[in-house]
Amino acid sequence: MTPTDPGPREPRGIRYGGDYNPEQWPEQVWAEDVALMSEAGVDLVTVGVFAWAELQAAPGAELRAGWLDRVMELLAAAGIGVDLATATASPPPWLVRAHPEILPVTANGVSLSLGGRQHYCPSSPAYRDAAVELAGRMAGRYGGHPALELWHVGNEYGCHVPACYCEVSAAAFRRWLRERYGDDIDELNRAWGTAFWSQRYRDFDEVGPPRVAPTFPNPTQQLDFARFSDHELRACYLAEREVLRAATPEVPVTTNLMGLFRPTDGWAWAAEMDVVSLDRYPDPADSDSHVQAALVADLNRSLGSGRPWYLMEQAPGAVNWRPVNVPKNRGQFRAWSLQAVARGADAVLQFQWRASAAGAEKFHSGMVPHAGIDTRQWREVVALGAELAKLAPLAGTPVSAHVAILLDWESWWALELDSHPAGLRLPELLAELYQPLFDAGTTVDFAHPEADLGRYQLVVAPALYLVSDRAATNLTDYVGAGGTALVTYFSGIVDPDDHVRLGGYPAPWRDLLGLDVEEVSPLPPTTTVRLGGPLAHPGSAGRRWQELIRLRGAQVLLEIADGPLAGQPAATAHPHGRGSAYYLATTPDPVTLSALIAEIAARAGVPAGPSRPPGVEAVERGGHLVLINHSDTTVDTGVGDDPRSDLLSGSVVSHAVTLPPGGALVLAPPDRP
Ligand code: GAL
Repeated sequence: MTPTDPGPREPRGIRYGGDYNPEQWPEQVWAEDVALMSEAGVDLVTVGVFAWAELQAAPGAELRAGWLDRVMELLAAAGIGVDLATATASPPPWLVRAHPEILPVTANGVSLSLGGRQHYCPSSPAYRDAAVELAGRMAGRYGGHPALELWHVGNEYGCHVPACYCEVSAAAFRRWLRERYGDDIDELNRAWGTAFWSQRYRDFDEVGPPRVAPTFPNPTQQLDFARFSDHELRACYLAEREVLRAATPEVPVTTNLMGLFRPTDGWAWAAEMDVVSLDRYPDPADSDSHVQAALVADLNRSLGSGRPWYLMEQAPGAVNWRPVNVPKNRGQFRAWSLQAVARGADAVLQFQWRASAAGAEKFHSGMVPHAGIDTRQWREVVALGAELAKLAPLAGTPVSAHVAILLDWESWWALELDSHPAGLRLPELLAELYQPLFDAGTTVDFAHPEADLGRYQLVVAPALYLVSDRAATNLTDYVGAGGTALVTYFSGIVDPDDHVRLGGYPAPWRDLLGLDVEEVSPLPPTTTVRLGGPLAHPGSAGRRWQELIRLRGAQVLLEIADGPLAGQPAATAHPHGRGSAYYLATTPDPVTLSALIAEIAARAGVPAGPSRPPGVEAVERGGHLVLINHSDTTVDTGVGDDPRSDLLSGSVVSHAVTLPPGGALVLAPPDRP
């Protein structure tokens, strides 16, 4: 057993529950809570996430944990497992009073106050020591408790305070830079390109965080600060995790990630987690939210190398933090929960169990709403619990994908720095490329650009702006060995120091792609260009980007048909070794993009997903086919000729089935009707 691997655990079905904050309620409510949990099939709750101030009253003091002891006992007696928080996400007022220097400072020098949550500087020794001390006390008191199943360290690291610019952080940043650059200030000067704008440093003590400056701060300084800030947050997590590991090596540890969250490098975090957890809050008001939800589910599964993951938080109904908070009242709670299971989740947990009566989140939905249990919300909660219980055969099973989208947080940090040709936003670009694959029923993994890509038929690199030499070679070798790559504009532009790779873009992949990009030419937001070429249809158009390209063997699939760059390639294909490399120099309209991706996927041998009407999601997990109707209309969908048993309804279906809006099927493998 390695220190980060508490060993394989037997799946216990699909777990169901949510954040449980009994400290917000009088003790009389707790017995009712536990009885209702049992009624709903809840078997896992997250306890204590924001309970520090309730648990400790002074620095280093004994836990005031009588109340938590009683809660743990009640839960244990009901057979409900606990994902126990270390309670360190929101420092108590006494800690701020004793150590005001723990308060975080923004890039423009504003010190953030006590009164919200997460008001700590991740580099603060006072915060870290107090957090580690508390984690140790929690492990000491509850490490052997029968209800304890999982440790939940902190909460959504970086959510409100992704980086701190205070003097303590500045000193920690300098220490981190000394280590990165081997204590050699000239190495830092080289990497940061400080010959530009008179920025040469003579000593590390002259260097600081990229605070608000008269104009764009040095980009490599910003990139290094993103690396540093992520490292500091993770150091907080790791410090607590080590204490927990030492006390309870057999208890798995997690913290909740947030999907496409730029400040924290999902790959680096997931590598330190036994269970990779996701908090997912798609907007019910947006008709395409289920696609975004699928994307982050696939991402979270991929971060854990395909291991089953936990949906740690979702809202049963509305959230409270959007300008307008629409509830999930069209079957979305059920549909999106089933989607998470289909895409590899072994737990469906909500924020939170009982909707709060006070505090900033009192209008956030809970599994038990303000109106009580004679409500639509509660009936949906109970119904979902019963359905998830039927999905036990899916627990622990894998989801396999033939296509990977490359994602590297370092590249994302660098891509979205200021002073670029245009402000590209990676989540948007990922979503645009993910959508046609989702529509085609093609399950997608995400992969780090340096990972082994050999098991994928198709690898997509969307705006992979920063590439290491190793990543560059990795993709080239993957194609050489027979793979298919689709590289999009503004990829392969800079090295890990954010220095342009010269000689024509994308310098490391010009031979692979059979072309040189001489000049990029972003399009203003409302401008489109017509597209022609073999894969165009009469209305084909490109937006956001176009390029001046010199072909060196690539074949044109789409080309710009009007404007100053008329005749320039917009999509190309090029054989390389035993594989093929495609390049996309614009964002085609959705129909053209779907056709292009379908063509590339077919040529790459990606198996076609089951045919379904639009709006019906199809995913396979562990041999089970899950179909979910996210549309507002009743549809007929094919389910194949072999009779298959639907785990949800218990009936056997074949050929075609009618699915109402929000309807779903979980079909057992054909040989197990
Ligand atoms: C999450 C957080 C929870 C709760 C929830 C509300 O970001 O982890 O504590 O605030 O949002 O949607």
